[in-house]
Amino acid sequence: MMLGSSLKNAARVFDTLAVGNLNVDITAFVESTPPPDGEVEARVFHISFGGSAANFAVALSRLSSRVGLIAHIGSDEMGKSALAELEREKVYTRLIRVEKGRTTGYVLVLVERSGVKRMVAFRGANQLLSSRSLPLKAARRAKIVHASSVKPSTAEGIAAKAVRGGAVFTYDPGGSALKYPLKEFAPVLEKTHILFVNSTEVKAITGISDPKKAADVLSEYAPTVVVKMGAKGVYAVGEEEREFIPAFEVEEVVDTTGAGDAFNAGFIKGLLLGLSFRECCIMGNAVAALKIAHPGARGGLPTLQQVSEFLRARGFFIRGL
Ligand SMILES: Nc1ncnc2c1ncn2[C@@H]1O[C@H](COP(=O)(O)OP(=O)(O)OP(=O)(O)O)[C@@H](O)[C@H]1O
Ligand SMILES: [Mg+2]
Repeated sequence: MMLGSSLKNAARVFDTLAVGNLNVDITAFVESTPPPDGEVEARVFHISFGGSAANFAVALSRLSSRVGLIAHIGSDEMGKSALAELEREKVYTRLIRVEKGRTTGYVLVLVERSGVKRMVAFRGANQLLSSRSLPLKAARRAKIVHASSVKPSTAEGIAAKAVRGGAVFTYDPGGSALKYPLKEFAPVLEKTHILFVNSTEVKAITGISDPKKAADVLSEYAPTVVVKMGAKGVYAVGEEEREFIPAFEVEEVVDTTGAGDAFNAGFIKGLLLGLSFRECCIMGNAVAALKIAHPGARGGLPTLQQVSEFLRARGFFIRGL
């Protein structure tokens, strides 16, 4: 991929700026969901920091990239703690806006014994995310701007600024892919260098159930389309290449939350290292495989050294790793 070699040498402060949500996840593991007006006891209960863009930023930072996060938090204690956690992870946080009188976003997650998940999202300060959240000056300092779980109209504004600033724009619409038709996505996709989607999302956007055919349709808009297919692996369409790369076998899948963000971070790290298209997919699969063997969206996110060891143990030797 030509893009990779030019990114490797670009002199910009940020390898990547991640744009999107920052949340506090409150997770309760229960036998079953409580009945109306009823109560159940939780077996395990924990509070962790999440939000797709924030998780992606942490994943990429652990892979030794200089990452900044663009997000909005409330002027509350949870917001402060979330910032402190990002700083510990060496994510640049000065572009995160603290909104007076607002509450940081929360996601309440109920996980039943059967594995069924129920979520209640409170967007809070995340609601203020817009294309204005990304200063043009910051876009000029970034090699890549990545929008994560951002709706298409907002993503388009962010993409336009990224392109004006001379950055490469990459996009993972996440759940918003299920809410908007292709017509709504077309303007942002035309400014997108790499589109990341999963198999449900690619079907929802295009209305085509075969992920390969659906990816081919989207590749008429964006030069690179990467479809994540869970345990199967990924199907990626580039300008000249078309690859199916199987996922790594994971002995015990503990928690797939954030697997998609981990994959995106691995792929983009590959791009920043100037790796080939195929190698970028392998990097994504490796980072995601290491993540899903641990609980939480950020548990198990590896360092570059750990990715290298993981790949070598499986017979993959990537130059520069
Ligand atoms: N059971 C599994 N075994 C091995 N690898 C997996 C498994 N599940 C997910 N992965 C890896 O994680 C990547 C991303 O997972 P998935 O396809 O579920 O994306 P996603 O739906 O975008 O994830 P998310 O729900 O986090 O947004 C896959 O492409 C694969 O590399
Ligand atoms: Mg996803």
